[in-house]
Amino acid sequence: MSTNIPFQVVHVTGARPNFPKAAPVVRALDDRSVRQRLIHTGQHYDERMSNVFFRQLGLPEPDENLAVGSGSHASQTGEIMVRLERLLMVSRPSLIVVYGDVNSTLAATLVATKLDIPVAHVEAGLRSFNRSMPEEINRLVTDRLSQLLFATSPDALVHLGNEGLDPSKVHFVGNPMIDTLLANLHLFDVPLIRRQLALPQRYGVATLHRPANVDDPGDAAELSKALHTVADQLPIVLPLHPRGRERLATAGLFRHPQIRVIEPQGYVEFLSLVRGAQVVITDSGGVQEETTVLGVPCLTLRAETERPVTITHGTNRLVNREDLAEAVKALLEVQRPAAGWPTPPLWDGRAGIRIADVIAQFVGAG
Ligand code: UD1
Ligand code: UDP
Repeated sequence: MSTNIPFQVVHVTGARPNFPKAAPVVRALDDRSVRQRLIHTGQHYDERMSNVFFRQLGLPEPDENLAVGSGSHASQTGEIMVRLERLLMVSRPSLIVVYGDVNSTLAATLVATKLDIPVAHVEAGLRSFNRSMPEEINRLVTDRLSQLLFATSPDALVHLGNEGLDPSKVHFVGNPMIDTLLANLHLFDVPLIRRQLALPQRYGVATLHRPANVDDPGDAAELSKALHTVADQLPIVLPLHPRGRERLATAGLFRHPQIRVIEPQGYVEFLSLVRGAQVVITDSGGVQEETTVLGVPCLTLRAETERPVTITHGTNRLVNREDLAEAVKALLEVQRPAAGWPTPPLWDGRAGIRIADVIAQFVGAG
């Protein structure tokens, strides 16, 4: 991506879930010769939380890295805003594209809007209706301010309508996260990852990083106890997000002989693990969607989900810590279908193309 010509589109990414969503959009805009630039806020910065995705997903190296790092919500969001504003005041693109619901998404939306640069939100309209989740605040504000709202599921269209957002801004395009999954499916090698990690034939995968599960020592202790009860029945491999690592270690999670805590995995390695799992236990947004398409049973340790389509059209179920072990037991007793499960509408691998069509027209490149 060259930096000495005016840019039509600037993508702002920053955290792990942004990267698989951005990759198909960037690629499809490249195919339309739209001049684009990619900014990384540096919200996530570890090799395993960031760089590995750029390599594996064919994303171009970021043109700029704001290197904001970690901090409180206000300091992280504010620092992204200050650094991004400097850049956007110099080169004013026709459109900013933001992804999902992380602090980088919110910060970029606020900066662009105040500079009178239109914003496109990929993954608009998801709602948990739980404002104690930082992501819910980020979603509400981002959607309110965006000029293009790209929805991944029919429930999102309903929410955007209920909030009075102009229907002409809303585009039902499908799920770019699933574009990435389908494009890489042939690389998800279950026997290989099983050999590399010396895993048995039957195992479960767990990923946990929500503040409501891992921030409080009491919650972390309860969670560890629940996972130990699961591990009494099935070996569990846990690629652990850095957020809860210390508290879960202190809570004794790592002590069970059938719990294997590993570093965050690269995209291909992670989805290979998921593909071969008997069950996935998670509080991740993306993982609820990926298990739905892979047909792998998913137990989501949360009180609600902003992705209900993964329950109505997928393999997801909400559970609490107390019921987790029973839910795993019940799943292990049923035979999983080899193929043929329904998937949500338009999760067909072409969301990036649909998004690029709308963007290209919007910036006058169509
Ligand atoms: C963020 C998002 C969340 C998303 C998650 C995906 C917000 C408010 N939250 O949560 O919606 O589900 O990313 O992974 O934007 N850390 C590292 N290395 C890194 C990044 C983070 O060690 O590369 C540690 C730091 O101790 C940091 C903590 O993780 O304080 C939390 O990072 P942060 O980006 O603030 O939030 P996440 O919990 O990652
Ligand atoms: N992921 C990965 N390695 C891991 C954990 C997750 O590659 O060890 C990928 C996976 O595709 C997932 C995405 O990162 O959907 C985003 O995950 P995360 O749970 O961090 O964010 P969320 O979707 O909850 O915001």
